[in-house]
Amino acid sequence: MRKIILSALVASATLLAADSAAVYKPGLLLPANGEAIYKHDCIQCHGADGKQTSDTGLSRIVYAPITGLDAAKLAKELKDYRYGSLNKYGYGALMKTTLVDLSYEEIDALAEYISTNMK
Ligand code: HEC
Repeated sequence: MRKIILSALVASATLLAADSAAVYKPGLLLPANGEAIYKHDCIQCHGADGKQTSDTGLSRIVYAPITGLDAAKLAKELKDYRYGSLNKYGYGALMKTTLVDLSYEEIDALAEYISTNMK
């Protein structure tokens, strides 16, 4: 009996762990997950590989690939967009809207993820 209870406990703990990974959202008090944030917030306009240079719905807006950048430089750029002080092509507001809900810790994790995974 004790064994059954114990394995039920282990199973539910495993389920809980899997669940918390699945429900990660920016702004929750969980360790920042750069990959989850990228897939949730950036992929639609910058593509899975970071090389997409135009939002398909806004095809007249063209920007550079976000690959091959140093993490610290990228994080600084994202923070500047977040505060509205960067506007390279006149569409900085789109970036600000996306980034405004992210903390510095989340932006740093996001920049690290992009710079290590998108060459
Ligand atoms: C709604 C579409 C959209 C989303 C979502 C989006 N971006 Fe952007 N991104 C843009 C546009 C438009 C620009 C050009 C802004 C400007 O005029 O400076 C841009 C510019 C950038 C640049 C600078 C590129 C260059 O040309 O130098 C980086 C880096 C970047 N985005 C990263 C991100 C990251 C990281 C995310 C996720 C948090 C994200 N973007 C989400 C549309 C988007």
